[in-house]
Amino acid sequence: MEIKKIAVLGAGQMGNGIAHVCAQAGYEVKMRDIEQQFLDKGMATIKKNLERGLKKGKITQNEIDAILGRITPVLELEEAVKDADLVIEAIPEIVKLKLTTWTEVDRLTPAHAILASNTSSISITQMAAVTQRPERFIGMHFFNPVPVMGLVEIIKGQATADETVEMIREVSQKLGKETVLVNEAPGFAVNRLLVPAINEAIFAIQEGVATVEDMDKAIKLGLNWPMGPLTLADFVGLDTLLYISDYFVDEFKDSKYRAPALLRKMVRAGWVGRKAGKGFYDYSGNTPKPLRF
Ligand SMILES: NC(=O)c1ccc[n+]([C@@H]2O[C@H](COP(=O)([O-])OP(=O)(O)OC[C@H]3O[C@@H](n4cnc5c(N)ncnc54)[C@H](O)[C@@H]3O)[C@@H](O)[C@H]2O)c1
Repeated sequence: MEIKKIAVLGAGQMGNGIAHVCAQAGYEVKMRDIEQQFLDKGMATIKKNLERGLKKGKITQNEIDAILGRITPVLELEEAVKDADLVIEAIPEIVKLKLTTWTEVDRLTPAHAILASNTSSISITQMAAVTQRPERFIGMHFFNPVPVMGLVEIIKGQATADETVEMIREVSQKLGKETVLVNEAPGFAVNRLLVPAINEAIFAIQEGVATVEDMDKAIKLGLNWPMGPLTLADFVGLDTLLYISDYFVDEFKDSKYRAPALLRKMVRAGWVGRKAGKGFYDYSGNTPKPLRF
């Protein structure tokens, strides 16, 4: 089987990035979200990101037009997946939502198609089990921002076939990404380290150990991270971080993964990071302004 048509579920931070790189690699893409405004925002982000390349002379206007022409935004799930060879899901990190979506997608998608989740933490085996094709179900974990970051973590569930792994490895390479293969475990390889590290930075803020900007500066310069953990938290989305932390506690049965109370409080306030205009920094001005806690 050759993969030609890809359906991307979700037009948010990750979904629009995934649709972008798939269309850029020549795939026909349908990008699905639940409201027109989310599709419009996703398409506008793709256009803006492509136009950055135009300014730098890395891409021509004709190429941009061709890439955008390969992405069809759709609201109907059936329309999105009915002729797909590969479905990549990037909807919110909520177990119940993912399971109901996969049950539906499995029913509406051609039998030959591969189903891939961009989940940050949720069990691939658990999602695969609600479908009739667990051998063609896999984790395809991209990093944010997708057009920039060079890695795809490929996650093999209990029943995932080796052939499925190979096909996803090929697609990832076509998207210009390096891959690592990870056997299923909560958080896979990267988030198992990253999420406790970010949470520890938030605990330190909560305890008054350092200010937001000093904690970021310390880790950036002291550990040579490209950005500090609180800037990164705002980038990832505090809601997503909280879902992952709670999921880790449930799965590992180990309180060392618990979320700081401050993180939960900020999510309840709707201060979920960049996408909301406010998180550990306020993004309403020209430069992000750190908050005091
Ligand atoms: N943010 C990150 O850095 C990051 C990195 C890797 C993986 N992920 C994972 O990617 C997934 C999406 O995260 P995000 O940061 O893009 O979230 P987001 O909130 O930016 O986007 C999610 C989008 O999904 C849409 N949506 C909700 N229900 C839907 C449905 N049934 N069908 C289609 N669309 C639906 C929402 O309207 C929203 O536009 C999550 O599983 C997350 O864990 C996130």
